[in-house]
Amino acid sequence: MAKSVLNFQKLKDNGEKIAMLTAYDYSTAQVLDKAGIDAILVGDSLAMVALGYENTYNITVDEMLIFIKAVARGAKNSFIIGDMPFMSYNLSIEQGLENASKMIKAGANAVKLEGCNEHIIELTKRCVESGIPVLSHLGFTPQLMNTIGGHKIQGKTADNTERILEWAKKLEEAGAFGVVLELIPAVSAEYLTKNLNIPTIGIGAGVNCSGQIVVTDDILGKFTDFAPKFIKKFANIHDTVLLGVENYKKEVKSMMFPSEVESFELNESEREKLNAVK
Ligand code: KIV
Repeated sequence: MAKSVLNFQKLKDNGEKIAMLTAYDYSTAQVLDKAGIDAILVGDSLAMVALGYENTYNITVDEMLIFIKAVARGAKNSFIIGDMPFMSYNLSIEQGLENASKMIKAGANAVKLEGCNEHIIELTKRCVESGIPVLSHLGFTPQLMNTIGGHKIQGKTADNTERILEWAKKLEEAGAFGVVLELIPAVSAEYLTKNLNIPTIGIGAGVNCSGQIVVTDDILGKFTDFAPKFIKKFANIHDTVLLGVENYKKEVKSMMFPSEVESFELNESEREKLNAVK
C-alpha cells in the first residue's frame, strides 16, 4: 500500500492497533522499516536522546531536517512524520506552513504539531489543505513544559478530559489524521478514543488507544538518563554496547585485536626487502 494517512484510519476502523516508533538515523530507520512499523516519528525528543540537550527547546528546524533526511533514506516503506520543533510554527501561519513544507521536502510524509489553540487549529487546516498531513499531540506536550510545570499527567479529572476531547474534536475537524495522547490515565484515553473518529496514538495513555508510540531508544534500553514509568524495556542495548566496548578495549590493550584474521598480508619478497632495510 502506498504511504498515506488513509492507512491509519483503516487500521483503526478494522480494530488493528497502530505501532509507531521514533527514529533519528539511517540504520535505525532501516531496522524499523524492516520490522514493518506503521509509522516512524522523527521526534524532537532527539534533542535529548541524540544531541544530549536537557529538553526539546533548543532543537531547530534546520537540525531536524538533517535527521529527517537520514531517516527517509533508511525507511523506504514506513510512513515518516517530522516533529515541528518549539516555536517553529507559533509565530504565524506562514511560518508554520513554510517550516512544515521544509519537512515534507526533506522526506517526511506528515508533520506533528503539539497543543491546541485557534492558531494551531487554523494551521492544521491550512497544512492539510496544502497536502501536508498533520498528526496532533495533546495531553502532556513537552514544548509547554514551563507552562504545565513539568512532566504532569493530564486528563486526571472528567472536566479536564472533556476539555482535551473538545480540542481533539476541533483538530479532527480541521483535518488532523490522528492525535498523540501523552501521559493520560488509561480510562480517560479510552474515553477520548471512543469519542473521536480519528486514531489516537498513546504514550503513557494505556492500552485502549488506537495505537502506541514510544521513543525507540527508551524501549531498547539505549537511552538511560531517565526511565519513564510507561516504558517497558524490550532489549538492553546500553549493556550490550558497554560490554562490547569493554571487550574491545581489553583486546586492544592485550594485543589480541587485531589478530591475523583482521590483518592484511605482505608477500614474501616485499617482506624480505623490508627486513633488509631493518
Ligand atoms: O518527540 C517525540 O519523540 C515525541 C513522542 C510522542 C514520542 O513527541
